[in-house]
Amino acid sequence: MIYLDNAATSFPKPPRVAAAICGFLNEIGASPGRSGHRLSVEAARIVYDAREKVAELFGFADALRVIFCSNATEGLNLAIMGLLKPGDHVITSSMEHNSVMRPLRRQEAAGVEVSVARCSASGFLDPADVKKLIKNNTSLIVINHASNVTGSILPVGEIGKIAREREILMLVDAAQTGGCYPVDLEKECIDMLAFTGHKNLCGPPGTGGLIIGTRVDTGKLAPIMTGGTGSRSEHEYQPDFLPDRYESGTPNAAGIAGLGAGLQFVLDLGVERIMEHEQMLAKRLIDGLKGIEGASIYGGGDPEEQTATVSFNIGEMTPSEVAQRLDEDYDIMCRPGLHCAPSAHRTIGTFPDGAVRFSMGYFNTPDEMDSAISAVRDLARKSGHKSA
Ligand code: ALA
Repeated sequence: MIYLDNAATSFPKPPRVAAAICGFLNEIGASPGRSGHRLSVEAARIVYDAREKVAELFGFADALRVIFCSNATEGLNLAIMGLLKPGDHVITSSMEHNSVMRPLRRQEAAGVEVSVARCSASGFLDPADVKKLIKNNTSLIVINHASNVTGSILPVGEIGKIAREREILMLVDAAQTGGCYPVDLEKECIDMLAFTGHKNLCGPPGTGGLIIGTRVDTGKLAPIMTGGTGSRSEHEYQPDFLPDRYESGTPNAAGIAGLGAGLQFVLDLGVERIMEHEQMLAKRLIDGLKGIEGASIYGGGDPEEQTATVSFNIGEMTPSEVAQRLDEDYDIMCRPGLHCAPSAHRTIGTFPDGAVRFSMGYFNTPDEMDSAISAVRDLARKSGHKSA
């Protein structure tokens, strides 16, 4: 079996991740920060340790401003729903996932103005196109760091500088880059960063969050959920300090223990090494697919300007048909369709059917790329195209 669906969720995980989750459930089990006994204290230590690793990975100094949520979507919702108010203007890109688009459209219905900067047909964004859209009431720019469809890396650093000059906050969706491409909040002028635990950070599903930079006035960022925090229990009002202001209810401590182990795996290897391996795989795959008559490849085609996510179509075959054949006849797992990113597919010209997506992770090998290329060549031939 060849697993090429790492942009959806990474698989396999480093063995230490399952070990940490089982270790937590079997030996600790308690609720962090709630009870004061030694198991509860140990659970809190594990959660705090993971918070510190998130901060370290993203070049951020204050672990207490790392908010754990159940995924990147919740982190994005916290920022978008918590910050924007009627009359505000927000700018985003046309390559966004619905995790950004849907909360923005919801806010639009509530009186927030939304502008979408058009990306190129390869999925890239010119910072000048964002600059042109800035108005007096622009309070937020929200962009992904890399597209989940084409892998194209967006120029967050340049856009961050523009945002900072105009005193606009910038929120980055790093779901596709955290753990496989360097991201640095300080250097790239990022004010808020949503991350997911279960992709390149190698953690389990149900983990992720939002880093809230120091320029964000948390008095103006409303929590989307309130409730028990284990702190200030004498009050019926939500604490105003972080992370408690934004973390209510018993957390997914077992998942966070696994996330901590995944983060340690990434930190031990180093993001550069993971990136280089994935770029090598992407280059091999792109070069191979380019030689297949009848295959159309989307994105820029330069592995240095994208993540190891490559979308393509074969002639007149529908993406679902191709993915089904790849699964049943070639044992290759991938994701076809719109990838929850209709705007991105409109931008690259593949709406409404979408495309077939191969997305690689650290555990994929060059041999697997060759097998995937050969399977696509075979399918293209069977669909009536001679191979080049
Ligand atoms: N956003 C994830 C994907 O692209 C789920 O598949």
